[in-house]
Formats: sequence, structure tokens, C-alpha cells
Amino acid sequence: MTTYKYEDIASEAEGLLVPVTASELESMKEGQVLVQPAIDKQLQQMLRNGVLKAKVGNTAVVASLGLLPQQVVIITVIDESGAELREAFAHAAGKVKSNKLSTLAIDISSPAVAGALQQAGTRYGVKCLLEGLKLALYERQVLKKQEQSLFAVNHISFVLSDEQLKQKSLIEAAVLEAEYMTVSVKLARDLTNMSGNELTPERLAFYAEEVAQKLELDIEVLDEWSCAEEEMGGLLGVGQGSVNPPRMIVIHYEGNPESDEKWGLVGKGITFDTGGISLKPAAGMEDMISDMGGAAAVLGAIHAIASMNVKANVLAVIPTAENMPSDRALKPGDVIRTMSGHTVEVVNTDAEGRLVLADGISTAIKRGATKLIDVATLTGAVLVALGTEATGAVTNNMALMEEVIAASEKSGERVWQLPAYAEYKKLIASDVADLKNSGGRHAGSITAGLFIGHFVEDKPWVHLDVAGTAYVNKPRRWEPKGATGVMVRTLYELIAEKDR
Ligand code: BES
Ligand code: MN
Ligand code: ZN
Repeated sequence: MTTYKYEDIASEAEGLLVPVTASELESMKEGQVLVQPAIDKQLQQMLRNGVLKAKVGNTAVVASLGLLPQQVVIITVIDESGAELREAFAHAAGKVKSNKLSTLAIDISSPAVAGALQQAGTRYGVKCLLEGLKLALYERQVLKKQEQSLFAVNHISFVLSDEQLKQKSLIEAAVLEAEYMTVSVKLARDLTNMSGNELTPERLAFYAEEVAQKLELDIEVLDEWSCAEEEMGGLLGVGQGSVNPPRMIVIHYEGNPESDEKWGLVGKGITFDTGGISLKPAAGMEDMISDMGGAAAVLGAIHAIASMNVKANVLAVIPTAENMPSDRALKPGDVIRTMSGHTVEVVNTDAEGRLVLADGISTAIKRGATKLIDVATLTGAVLVALGTEATGAVTNNMALMEEVIAASEKSGERVWQLPAYAEYKKLIASDVADLKNSGGRHAGSITAGLFIGHFVEDKPWVHLDVAGTAYVNKPRRWEPKGATGVMVRTLYELIAEKDR
């Protein structure tokens, strides 16, 4: 964890990070001192020759050559309105990392920057800038013979104006929240980046137990025998092809005993998806280590929620299995009976996520969930529809959908609702069972969502398909290559909303 200090002058640190607005850069021409006269000269030169542009996303690095107590100055351009603070600081993070600056002073005291933060809401603004910085600093653990040490920022001191110093407690609260956000997202990313041999269903249950123990939460881990007692035919069916048996994980967080409401967060936990007998092609199959990205998101979310003592009741439910072809595996044409009693004709063993999620949803309802959100790397079709820019959503309840979208606007994680007309459901009607598990190529993400919706009884429910957003092939904004931990912060914002 990073340690923090709040001061009125920039104390010694390896780096000084200074957000600036376009108008501040402009004012240097009139002789206003921005950082230090000689450093300002350099910045003006950079502005003149176009190395630095007065637009969000632009940064500059200047050596301070003994003129300041810090060795390196990083300038990052922010919007006057305090929008896009995460982006601006994510860009700065790249420079912090390449210059290996493990102690930082961040100067947010100038009137223009303080004004921008105030427009965003000082607490929210500070949270955003720190999230941008720290989420972008994340690195995936590398497994080489020679152990690799990962870069980290160990200490940050904020330089505050007198006015900001009076609001110190507000800023401290923002810093604490951002710190818990980043460790919770890191938890999700680390799990999602683990390879299939490292992370089996049993190992995922072990990590969930570690989280529960640390936060003193009750946890149930149902093994394959307990799952059989509960007649979880979906989860058991998907898991039956692998030597690594499935698990149903349930973590309980009771943050509001006075309330009858209980969120059920259900995350798809396929630790590796080969497709099963409906085997996937070899090219790109390695990315299927990320098929538990939904599970990681709900684990990260309950970690954040419990760490911040949010006043809400939450269940994190993770049905986890490995989808393998074998002599024991599910076969196309098999009919299975889920925990709810509904039967499913398995026409494609690669549509396994919805089978485990059906039992996950029933498990959440059985344990008292009143509102349901499922998060799943469910369909390739969502990549066709939305690419990697947004998470696709399906719902049975517009009010809850709007809450999720509002939360996603706060987190900066885009969510786009797909239509769910009743007619689409006909595509997954079966002649021999209540449902079939694939409706073919048309509207693939919608029929997948509606399949899950079949099991939610009358509960308000939102399905989040993160197949395009949980794991990406190149870094962007505050997301590294590989696992993004997407939806951890959106779920947190959703559930913490009424707690502020
Ligand atoms: N895990 C995949 C979906 C996926 C695809 C996630 C690409 C991330 C990137 C899922 O289990 C799957 O295989 N879905 C099938 C469903 C089809 C058989 C109805 C798909 O999308 O092809
Ligand atoms: Mn699949
Ligand atoms: Zn899958």
C-alpha cells in the first residue's frame, strides 16, 4: 500500500507531478510562474514546437537539475471542468513508471486545478485522479526464472492550498476510497491474469477464502458432493469433463442488518474454457484464462464494499468450473436439470457460462438475494456488437438498469443496454427441454442474457456481458494489457451509492 501525506509545500520526493489546465499553460506567456521560472521556459519551448499540447492526454517530463527538491517534474494536462481526470493521470502514470519515481509529490494547489477539482466535486475529483494514476501503474506478475520485481509508488504527498487544507478530511476520504478501489481492482486483475494451470476452481475457492478471512466474512465453498445434494445440474454438467472439480462459492457481507434488501452478485467463474466437446479453435484459445473475469469482478467488488464498510447486504456468488472435453464431458444433445428444476438441452457445450450462471442465480435467490446482477465473459457476440469499448447489458428492470448505468458513468466503465424483446426468447426454445443453451448466431448476446433471465424468478436483474471488456490485447487509458478488472468499481459505485 502507498502511504500519504498532505502539506502546503512540495516536500522532497523523486518526482513532482503537476496537473495543469490549458489556461494555466497559456498564462505562462504573461509571465505567470507555473512550476519554476527555468522549468517554465522549457515547457514554453515544448509548447512552441508542439512536443506539449494543451489537451488532455498530453504530458511533459522535465529534469529539475537541482532547481527543486524533486529530480523530475511531470506535467499532465487536465480539463478545466475536471472531467477526464482519470485519463490525464493515467497518462502521467506512464511517465512515473518509465522514470521509476517511487515517491511522488502531487501539486493540486493552483487556483485553476483546485477549481477544476471543485467542479468535479473535490472528493470525487481526487478519487478519480488517484484511481487513474494507480490503476494505470498496475503490472502483471511475470513468471520467469529470475524473479522480477514490480514497480510501485510507495509514497505520495499531496501539495494542497490553504482552502484545500481546510477540506483535508474530505481529501483523505477520497484517497482512502481510491486506495481500496485500486487494491480491489488489482485483486480482480491478478486472478484473471492467472493461467489455467495456476487457477483451477479449487484454487479460486482458496483465494476467495483468503479474501473472506481477511475481511472476516462468512464464506461457503460447496464441493462437487454438496453441489450434487443441491442438484446443481448446470454447474456439475459443465465441470464433469475435467479432473479439476467444480465449486460453488458464496461470500456473505451483512453491512445493513436493518434492511431486507440483499444484493446478489453472481460472477461466471470458468477458470479455463476450451469449449468442451464443441471445442474452440486453437488460435487465441489462451485468452480463455480470462473466462473467470466475472467471478473476479464480484470478488473484487465485495472486497471493496466490505473494506469500505458500505451499509448494504451483499452476496458474492461464484459458480466455478473448468470446461474440458473428455470421455466424461457433456455432449451436444445432453439434457440436464438445473438447481431450479428447469431442464436445458445442451446444443453447444461452448455455451457453458449460462449453465453455471443458472445455478449461481438460484443459489443467490435461495440465500435471500432480492436484487441480482450477474457479470460474465459470456459471448463472443458482444464483441461483434460493441467491440472492446463497452460492456453489454440485458435487464428485466429499467429502474435497476438506470442505477447500473449511473454507477458506470461514475466509474468511467461504459455499459450499453441491449434490447430484450420477448420475441428473442423464442430463439432458445427447445423441443425436448425448457430451454436450449444456444440460439445460434442471431442476437447471440441477447439470447444468452435472456437464458440467464429465465432463472431470476421475479427479482430485478441486470446481466453484464464483459467478454469484450474484461481482458484486452493492448493497454488503454487506465487499463493495462490483459485483465482489466472491469465492473469492480461499477458494482462498488452501484451498491455504495445510497451510503453517501
Ligand atoms: N467464454 C466464451 C465467450 C467469450 C468469447 C469470452 C470471446 C471472451 C472472448 C463463452 O463461453 C462462449 O464460448 N460463448 C459462445 C456461445 C455460443 C456457443 C452460443 C460464443 O460466444 O461463441
Ligand atoms: Mn464457452
Ligand atoms: Zn466461456
